[in-house]
Amino acid sequence: MNKNTCLVGLQYGDEGKGSISQYLSYNYEVFVRYQGGGNAGHTIYKDGKKIVTHFLPVGVARGKDSMGNDPICILANGMVINPISLVQEVKDVSNAIGVSPESLVKNIFISNKAHVITEKAIEKDRQREELQKIGTTKTGIGPTYESKYNRTGLTVSEALSNPEYKEFVEMFSSNIVNTEILLNELNDENYRIFFEGAQGALLDVDFGQYPYVTSSNCIPSAIGTGAGFSPRKIVLNIGVIKPYTTRVGAGPFPTEMSKEEDEAFRLKGDEWGATTGRPRKCGWLDIPSLRYAIQLADIDEIAVSKMDMLDGVEEIKVCVGYSLDGSYVDGISDFPTGKEWDKVSPLYESWPTNKFLESLQEYLDIKIRITSWGPNIEDKVFIRSGSKTDLAMSMRNKSDKV
Ligand code: IMP
Ligand code: MG
Repeated sequence: MNKNTCLVGLQYGDEGKGSISQYLSYNYEVFVRYQGGGNAGHTIYKDGKKIVTHFLPVGVARGKDSMGNDPICILANGMVINPISLVQEVKDVSNAIGVSPESLVKNIFISNKAHVITEKAIEKDRQREELQKIGTTKTGIGPTYESKYNRTGLTVSEALSNPEYKEFVEMFSSNIVNTEILLNELNDENYRIFFEGAQGALLDVDFGQYPYVTSSNCIPSAIGTGAGFSPRKIVLNIGVIKPYTTRVGAGPFPTEMSKEEDEAFRLKGDEWGATTGRPRKCGWLDIPSLRYAIQLADIDEIAVSKMDMLDGVEEIKVCVGYSLDGSYVDGISDFPTGKEWDKVSPLYESWPTNKFLESLQEYLDIKIRITSWGPNIEDKVFIRSGSKTDLAMSMRNKSDKV
């Protein structure tokens, strides 16, 4: 069974969701974004070209499947959309994959209920950042969700009469619909649907390190309200992680590396924000927070991206628990909140990199299904059973390729 799937990040965003989504996109027909907006930056490489999507799910760049069908993309009601940036993104993506914007747009459907990111919201995000210092992407996310919930927001259907959005309206005129109905119809017709999460579980507005979070729920259950699609109809939740952690923006970061380690990692891993260009702070893998995220996101399988970062490294530091006020915190039965984060000290182990996947699977108690050893589709390894031999083979497969 290879049906409705949700893929989310289990860290602070930038886990490599784009690349894994692209690899999986050949198994699905419909691609959905259900939260967030242009704060996301999902990077893929196609025919040697780098493509970054912000509003569109990366499935948009897949091209025809083996049956000759183009991908169907849905920007659902839980999203916040900047019409002007979206028009530009459509032009950029269509240019990169060598199709006309008109033919790309034919299969992109936008919820009439999604909220519009206005210039005013962007300005408010910028101004507030001066005081609040969350380290937002300054793309107007917070103020737009704020207007939505205080009932002064502008929906996509209301924006259609605004001359400022003329190009957007012309481009999408026949594709602004009740995407919740479309989505349920497609499901009834047995289309395979892929939900692409943005940001990550540790930036979730409820379960992240509030207030250092984004303004939406990032976990799969957000699909219920963010797309009008019951999470019961999703059969597989995939969580994406890197073998280390990165964070852009402010907030607690218990496993943050020393300055020297951080700089070395950033260079090797090319860790700069895809949306803002900011350097990403690097930290060691944080097992307790992954356990917490796996629990909340009800994850079935893990995909590990950026495994090539372990090349030439014999051992890697991993945080396996926290010490907090004299207690041991494992991320399953307890997890820090608020001011407690200031008192957390990470407990580290050093794992041999050739046993990394095995140890990870054991500590997280969940199957590792995909590993990624580079930015291209060919760099992905699908792990069938999750047995020790299989995991070791996945490590070896990579060295065969070099
Ligand atoms: P906002 O979503 O722009 O309001 O930013 C809130 C926090 O989430 C900041 O720490 C941002 O750096 C972070 N953030 C938002 N979107 C992403 C993302 O796609 N990747 C990584 N961090 C993000
Ligand atoms: Mg990103």
